[in-house]
Amino acid sequence: MTDSMDQRPIITVQQYILREQQNFPGVSGEFSWLLSGITLATKMIQAKVRRAGLSDILGAEATVNVQGEVQQRLDLYANSALLHCLGVRDSVGVLASEENDKPIVLRASAGAKYAIVFDPLDGSSNIDVNVSVGTIFSILRRTEASMVEGGDPLEGLLQPGYKQIAAGYVVYGSSTILVYTTGRGVHGFTLDPSVGAYVLSHEHIRMPEKGKYYSINEAYRDTFPGHYGQYIDSLRQQKYASRYVGSLVADFHRTLLKGGVFLYPPTTDHPHGKLRLLYEANPVAFIAEQAGGSATNGTTRILDVQPDSIHQRTPLILGSQYEMSQFAKFQPK
Ligand code: AHG
Ligand code: MN
Ligand code: MN
Repeated sequence: MTDSMDQRPIITVQQYILREQQNFPGVSGEFSWLLSGITLATKMIQAKVRRAGLSDILGAEATVNVQGEVQQRLDLYANSALLHCLGVRDSVGVLASEENDKPIVLRASAGAKYAIVFDPLDGSSNIDVNVSVGTIFSILRRTEASMVEGGDPLEGLLQPGYKQIAAGYVVYGSSTILVYTTGRGVHGFTLDPSVGAYVLSHEHIRMPEKGKYYSINEAYRDTFPGHYGQYIDSLRQQKYASRYVGSLVADFHRTLLKGGVFLYPPTTDHPHGKLRLLYEANPVAFIAEQAGGSATNGTTRILDVQPDSIHQRTPLILGSQYEMSQFAKFQPK
């Protein structure tokens, strides 16, 4: 089937996943059914984002989440959309969200073999000013011990990022784009509102080996460990430009497509970094590596970090091969 304006075939994300699964026997159709829960929720979220100024979805609730952050109405809407759409997928046993203090056990049975961790609305501070925001998700396989009769359903939820079986994000920007990886490359799909489907638009995304942007909140520069400032100065001397949106999904999506480096270092306010390991750093680190880039917490590969808690924070430095090799040279000995 081809679009009259464009001779490219229309391949939806569901078709792409099913085609991928045919190449890899043993990967059951459960994953495509699970992913359809995420794509449905993000279509509901993007519909609210696109009409935010026209419906009573802007602004803050009186509630504060476990992070101590005032919850935006859209945070809560996005969270409920994902909890609902994923809650009806029988293969999902446990959900954990930035907006929920504790993980949610949907089903303890062995059939519910996936755990999904997500940031329902990333970039909340940008919602009211019409700047790109997003949704980030990470899919883990639950451990056998967590699914046995009488076992702790949450056992094994705290897995290092290299155990992710899939990760992705949706950026609600000038268009709505879903980017995901299952460990076999990174692929992007643009939501075509005329058909209401995510259509393949960026197959096998590769991060350029070198970019021209660095992305960091320079307001906190004086509180970064000293070598971060020295590194940024070296990039400035190499004529890099600065880009910082303040929504991780937007800053990451640009870095993925254009190359360069994104940093959220330790600061006085956040000595362990601000970004959350399980549902911000791990998913984007998995995608960055699959696209040819890399991601560290400043000393260790993000995907090797053993989490201690669901909402654990981490410094995050990720980007192209050149910029990451340059960063390594500034590491204190
Ligand atoms: P969230 O809206 O889910 O809390 O995430 C916001 C994060 C991330 O999107 C962004 O990179 C970072 O906060 C920006 O932090 P600063 O405003 O401190 O730069
Ligand atoms: Mn976030
Ligand atoms: Mn969020």
